[in-house]
Amino acid sequence: MRLDIITCLPKILESPFDQSILKRAQQKGLVEVHVHDLRDYSPFKHRQVDDYAYGGGAGMVLMTEPIARCIRHLSEARNYDAVVYMTPDGKRFDQPMANQLSLLKNIILLCGHYKGVDERIREKFVTHEISIGDYVLSGGELAAAVVADALIRLLPGVLSDETSALTDSFQDGLLAPPVYTRPADFEGMRVPDILLSGHEAAIEQWRYDQALARTRERRPDLLKED
Ligand code: ADE
Repeated sequence: MRLDIITCLPKILESPFDQSILKRAQQKGLVEVHVHDLRDYSPFKHRQVDDYAYGGGAGMVLMTEPIARCIRHLSEARNYDAVVYMTPDGKRFDQPMANQLSLLKNIILLCGHYKGVDERIREKFVTHEISIGDYVLSGGELAAAVVADALIRLLPGVLSDETSALTDSFQDGLLAPPVYTRPADFEGMRVPDILLSGHEAAIEQWRYDQALARTRERRPDLLKED
């Protein structure tokens, strides 16, 4: 997979991809992440990328030209399977969406800023619009990092068997069961005996029961048939 992230604040995206699982995935050659500074594509003086909104009102809008130039420049080298615009009015991001996008090869993530991008960019270039939740961030960068993380950890070879994404919350439609590690007794709080029993089938059943109970209690909406 190759992710090209377009942003006017590239520094925000330096560290998330430079640690732990996301860093190792790149070192193993399983994913390439390229961050592009929108200002490098500005045809204007002072590398301007935004301007006042037509019709007035507070807030700046990211202009068409730098974004169009950047997307066209990237598209000369390869075909993109998705051009994803990060925006609070997009489709709510969830695990099924992450699973689907993780199957694609080349993805552009476009970060909005200020009041967002000129609507014509959305009409002309954008194939998916994603929100990571019903709240407004000051830009799309952190949202893009969230989406990138959720996709990258699903790529074959990124996680070891022990950390496999198959046992994540949401992968089977349920929240994950509780987990414990040493010590077996923490200030009188004991790890459930079943987990120390070595009885694999019983442990599996216990985990499923716990996951179901937890989901019923915390997220009953996940159990509703639609
Ligand atoms: N940009 C600003 N807020 C956002 C959100 N909630 N999701 C995605 N992109 C955003």
